[in-house]
Amino acid sequence: MGTTFKGAIDDQAAIDAVLRKKKPVAVYRHLDAALFGGYLPFTPYKDLVNRRVHPFDSIAVSGHKFFGFDEPMGIFITTKKTLKNTNPFKVAYLNGAVPTITCSRNALSALKFWWKIQKTGMKGFEEQAQAILANAQYLEDQLNEIGYAAWQDDHSNTVYFRRPSEAMMKKYVLAPDYDTRLGGNLAHIIVMQHLTREVIDQFVEDLKKDRR
Ligand SMILES: Cc1ncc(COP(=O)(O)O)c(C=O)c1O
Repeated sequence: MGTTFKGAIDDQAAIDAVLRKKKPVAVYRHLDAALFGGYLPFTPYKDLVNRRVHPFDSIAVSGHKFFGFDEPMGIFITTKKTLKNTNPFKVAYLNGAVPTITCSRNALSALKFWWKIQKTGMKGFEEQAQAILANAQYLEDQLNEIGYAAWQDDHSNTVYFRRPSEAMMKKYVLAPDYDTRLGGNLAHIIVMQHLTREVIDQFVEDLKKDRR
């Protein structure tokens, strides 16, 4: 649910259809929504992470991406049925089974998440989600305007494009990738809350000079 470099999303409706048709004996459907799971619930694409629409078993979302926490943390949401079947192994010295992800017993992280949810509120998250998608679209539009090969999907805050010079890669700390289908060397920008239109404009100006 939002691949690391290009921000691709698996076609959930197609997965539903295959599962309905094939009826496999056992399926565990997990959504790795590390970045996108933070903002999709506040966009028109919210059904992608709604298990009443696409019946997945669990979803994981990072705390240090969209939510902007200063240390690695995340949320894992699952069904009671799944939780009941997790790690039934009873540890003698704990006098029970431990239904947590290994080492995820940091109570402060849960408290920080609670604080963030209270402080930002649904409206705040909605504004942030809209802003990053609008700015990602703006970046793609600006690149298209100067005839620079760039791609972005409507649900994605990631814009990827032909890789510029080493100097540009260094100045903007861009991540590299490679795809022969798109002409070879690529770079991307993940448009987060702090990325303003001024910075985008500056980037596009620099790119124009860089290309010359
Ligand atoms: C799709 C995807 N899954 C998982 C991760 C890793 O998440 P975490 O840092 O919470 O382990 C990333 C990026 O870091 C990612 O892009």
